[in-house]
Amino acid sequence: MRNSPSAGQACYGSQMSAGTSKKIADGTYRFCVAPMMEWTDRHCRFFHRILSRRARLYSEMLAVGAVLHGNRDRLLRFDQAEHPVALQLGGSDPAKLAAAAEIGADSGYDEINLNIGCPSERVKSGAFGACLMLQPKLVGDCVAAMKARVKIPVTVKCRTGVDEQDPEAALGLLAESVIAAGCDALIVHARKAWLKGLSPKENRDVPPLDYGLVHALKQRFPNVPVVLNGGLATLSQMRAELDSVDGVMVGRAAYQDPALLLEADAALFGEAAPVVSAAAAVEAFIPYVEARLAEGVPLHAMTRHLLGLFNGLSGARAWRRQLAAEAVRPGAGVGTLRAALALVEPGGPRGVSVAA
Ligand SMILES: Cc1cc2nc3c(=O)[nH]c(=O)nc-3n(C[C@H](O)[C@H](O)[C@H](O)COP(=O)(O)O)c2cc1C
Repeated sequence: MRNSPSAGQACYGSQMSAGTSKKIADGTYRFCVAPMMEWTDRHCRFFHRILSRRARLYSEMLAVGAVLHGNRDRLLRFDQAEHPVALQLGGSDPAKLAAAAEIGADSGYDEINLNIGCPSERVKSGAFGACLMLQPKLVGDCVAAMKARVKIPVTVKCRTGVDEQDPEAALGLLAESVIAAGCDALIVHARKAWLKGLSPKENRDVPPLDYGLVHALKQRFPNVPVVLNGGLATLSQMRAELDSVDGVMVGRAAYQDPALLLEADAALFGEAAPVVSAAAAVEAFIPYVEARLAEGVPLHAMTRHLLGLFNGLSGARAWRRQLAAEAVRPGAGVGTLRAALALVEPGGPRGVSVAA
């Protein structure tokens, strides 16, 4: 996992509450865009929201220490248009997590998500992330402390286990503990993490995926939303998985091919996309870009999230090249973005008329 100065400084209930059952029914967690450090920052999330009204968006992970002692305005700010948006926290101290969760709730986030999946060295040294798969009771205490402090949902994103753990047992113990503590949804990256020997990037690809474990978890905890994450790349694959789980969370595919989001509302919710085309999405992003430029945000900090938008379309390479080279120049503005857009051939599956 990548670290950034702004980020990583980094369910048995046999009783189903009416609130929980409604949450599952209304599709709150049906389609989520994963938390990704250095990728899902506020500019990225704003752009993703232009592409999909229904996606549930997640922040980059913020370590509790950063939330409690860092520049909160810079770390936590987001645009109201991003709702529903979840704040992901990394930590293992129940009291500190509760305090950070309260700050997140007061800042207007719709959910607090606890990271029990990140395997980076830096996270291990802080005793949070995937290594907490080894301490289900502590994770339950963390969830209980946050639940006692905030009214918004508290969710957990975890692996199926770490190192030599038996995944079925490890995932089951973690789920039991956090669900007993009131966890509102469990998001499972359906592979183990190897804390020694694999880089964070390798830990996203090398350990084999096991969707069956997550399906079985859903069967075991029918009243708690269970969200499947890991390796999902196409909307048809996601639609098929939604027969077995309450939601899907997509990471790299959504970031690297944002036009996938443009098709998600129609494919997963039967609703029209918010904009008719990828090009229209860029146009809709321009007022936001202008406003941020006026605040001193450099163009490339926003346009870097758009590089994959026209993948598969004629002109996609020219678009990427133009944006990558020109948006970093001092003084680059929306003219640079428009010039790049002019290089993309209108038409094609992602150029026009994607909306239903
Ligand atoms: C660049 C990058 C940064 C990530 N940062 C986080 C993070 O901050 N918190 C987290 O829980 N997972 C993080 N992840 C993992 C993703 O949320 C997701 O679990 C993983 O990529 C598997 O989903 P995918 O196959 O759909 O990409 C990151 C992944 C990537 C590629």
